[in-house]
Amino acid sequence: MRNFTREKEQEKDQIYSSVSVLNNNGLSAEELQTEIIQFLHQLCEEPAALYTPKEARARYEEILKELTASGEKAGAWTPTKAELSEAGRLAWRNSNRCIGRLHWRSLHTFDRRRIETTDDAYEALLEHLSFATNRGRIRSVMSVFSNRIRIHNPQLIRYAGFRNPDGSVTGDAMLADFTQYALELGWRPKTTGRFVVLPLVLQLDDDTPVVYELPEDPAYVLQVDIRHPEIDMEPFGLKWHALPVISNMDLVFGGIRYHTAPFNGYYMGTEVGARNLADTFRYNQLKPMAEIMKLDTSKHFSLWKDRALVELNAAVLHSFKEKGVKMVDHHTASEQYMTFAELEKKADREVTGEWSWLVPPVSGSTCPVFHEEQDNTMKLPNFLSREE
Ligand code: ARG
Repeated sequence: MRNFTREKEQEKDQIYSSVSVLNNNGLSAEELQTEIIQFLHQLCEEPAALYTPKEARARYEEILKELTASGEKAGAWTPTKAELSEAGRLAWRNSNRCIGRLHWRSLHTFDRRRIETTDDAYEALLEHLSFATNRGRIRSVMSVFSNRIRIHNPQLIRYAGFRNPDGSVTGDAMLADFTQYALELGWRPKTTGRFVVLPLVLQLDDDTPVVYELPEDPAYVLQVDIRHPEIDMEPFGLKWHALPVISNMDLVFGGIRYHTAPFNGYYMGTEVGARNLADTFRYNQLKPMAEIMKLDTSKHFSLWKDRALVELNAAVLHSFKEKGVKMVDHHTASEQYMTFAELEKKADREVTGEWSWLVPPVSGSTCPVFHEEQDNTMKLPNFLSREE
C-alpha cells in the first residue's frame, strides 16, 4: 500500500497540470488529488478493505479520467456507492465529539444522489426516518443527496419555538429563528404548544424553498412522553422525539463536500435530560422539576439544580425504556467509548476526540473519559459544519 501512495505522489505533478478547474470544495487540483489518494489509501488499509492496492490503483486511474474529462464535470468525481458507504463509516469514526463511535461499522447508507426534485427528496427522507426509527429499535443511517438538494432544517425532527409578543418563546427557543423562517415560507402549523414538530424545508438549486409537513404517524416521528417512576411529572407534559437526525453538516472526503447528507444515531439520555430539557435557553425545566420535588430553590447551596437534573435524567431514561425506544445512559456510553479507544489503538490508529464534548454533562468525573487526555486533530473523512 505504501507503494501505491508513493507512486501516486510522483505522478501528481504531471496530472494536476491537466486539471485546472476548482472543484466544489474550493481545493486546488493538487489538494484534490492528495485527498483522493489519501481516501483510496484508507480504503485498502482498513481491515475490511474495500480495495486491494491493485484495485485502488485501477480505481485511481478511473477517477483521474473523470477529473480531466472536459465539460462541466471537470474537476469532480463520483464515488461509487460502496466508497460512499465506507466514507460515511469513517466519517463517523473520526467524529471527535461523538461518544458513540464504538458502533461506527453499523452505519447504513442510502445513496440518494440521483434525486432531482424536492418531492422525491421528501419521500427519501421519510424512508430514512422510518427505516432509522424502526419502531424504537433505532438503526444508524446516513442518506446522501446531490448538492442540488438543500435541507434547511438543522435536524430532520425538531420542535418549533414560537416567539410571543412579550419576547418569550413557546417551545424550543433554539429553533425560534428557524420557526420564524418556516412561517415566512408559508408554514401553517396545525397545532400550537411547546412540542409542535417543525416541517422540513427543502430546496432544489436556487428555487424557492418548499415546506413539507412531517406525518404524525409514529412510524416516521416517534415521540416519548416523559414520566418519572416515582415523581408525578404528568402535569409537565414533557416529551421528546426518538431520533436525532443531524441535517446541517457536510460529509467531507476525497476532495468532495456533500452538503446534504443527513445522518442519525440514537440518543444518549443526557442529551435530552441535561441539555434539551434543562438548558435555560432550551426548555429550562430544572426549576419546575425542583419545585415538584419540594427542594429549596432559594439558594444554590441546597444543590436543587443538581438534584433536579438527576431526576429529570432518570425520567428520560425510564420513559424511553418503557416505550421500547433505544437510548443509552452516559455511564454505559462512556464505557463503550473507552472500548472504542482501546480497539482503535489495537488497530494501530491514533484516537482523536474532543474532551469538552465527550465528557457527559452530568457526573462527568464518574465517567472514565473525564480522566483521559484527548487529541482533537481532525481527520478525513469527517462530518463538518458548513463553516469548517
Ligand atoms: N444533541 C443533539 C440533540 O439533541 C443530537 C446530536 C447527535 N446525537 C446522537 N446521539 N447521535 O438533539
